[in-house]
Amino acid sequence: MGFNRKSTAEQVTEGLDLTGQTIVITGINSGLGLESMRVLCMRGAHVVGLARTLGKAQQACDSVAGKTTPLACELSELASVKAAAESIRTMAMPIDALIANAGIMAPTQLSHAHGLEMQFATNHIGHFVLIQHLLEQVKQADAGRIVIVSSAAHAMAVKGGIDFDNLDASYDYSPWRFYGQSKLANVLTARYLSAQMKGHQVTVNALHPGIIKTNLARDAGGLLMTLMGVFAKPFEKTVEQGAATQCYVAVNPEAAKTSGEYFSDCAVAKTSPAGRDDRLATMLWQKSEALAADYLP
Ligand SMILES: NC(=O)c1ccc[n+]([C@@H]2O[C@H](COP(=O)([O-])OP(=O)(O)OC[C@H]3O[C@@H](n4cnc5c(N)ncnc54)[C@H](OP(=O)(O)O)[C@@H]3O)[C@@H](O)[C@H]2O)c1
Repeated sequence: MGFNRKSTAEQVTEGLDLTGQTIVITGINSGLGLESMRVLCMRGAHVVGLARTLGKAQQACDSVAGKTTPLACELSELASVKAAAESIRTMAMPIDALIANAGIMAPTQLSHAHGLEMQFATNHIGHFVLIQHLLEQVKQADAGRIVIVSSAAHAMAVKGGIDFDNLDASYDYSPWRFYGQSKLANVLTARYLSAQMKGHQVTVNALHPGIIKTNLARDAGGLLMTLMGVFAKPFEKTVEQGAATQCYVAVNPEAAKTSGEYFSDCAVAKTSPAGRDDRLATMLWQKSEALAADYLP
């Protein structure tokens, strides 16, 4: 009760016994994913921890106490995403929470996967495929939660929100606007899927974790990065605080009934107008289904 921007992942999960719960998290070898795994394991959950390679996942899982299962999942390679999902399916347990946490931010160098700009491919399409594959197991939980880590940067998306005619960034590549587009896609996916889950015991939410010094900015550059380095300093969170909102949305009983929302500092917050555009959300969902058709269940 009464959590705020200073709350840590340990504080928002204090007193919770997650024994018997299974939580799938992507990007567990670094930053917010690693801290989320550490804390949720500490509360008793079995964390299925996904990283680009099995080696990275294994190393990260070995670094925390508690029950973990490491798995390889390279989000920009949809065959890898599908294989990870198939491994989870063979474990045949309900998934209490799926935290789509992994991400890349504003690489100065444009690159592609499956013909798509890399941030859209990784941050959105990879998770879109993973979520679709794991949905049945999330539905099997008493009250499954899908948690998609977005960013306040979703408000910086390209003109029109999602530029469906330029998903490969064949013109006008801007690292930050394409980061914003991928993070807006996260918000819209949560909104659309939440509406689809009416009648099921499943919630779907997106969130902004705050501004935290992690490895995320390693490929970013430019003036915005320099300005952020100076002006964001007073607003920065620690990694322990940065992991709080996703852990709160994933397991805290206060958030159990909330769905289709966007959280910041462990509270419901407002998205950009594009983040509330249901027509855009539907268009994105349909386009994503078409793009990933060969890899969907
Ligand atoms: N830190 C912030 O200020 C901030 C602000 C707003 C939103 N966010 C969001 O928070 C989430 C977590 O970021 P973080 O700050 O913890 O950054 P981080 O320390 O860089 O961690 C990102 C994780 O995602 C993984 N990842 C990246 N690309 C991947 C791919 N293609 N396949 C599989 N895994 C991949 C990384 O693996 P590798 O180490 O192998 O690359 C790493 O484990 C991201 O979605 C980010 O957009 C962060």
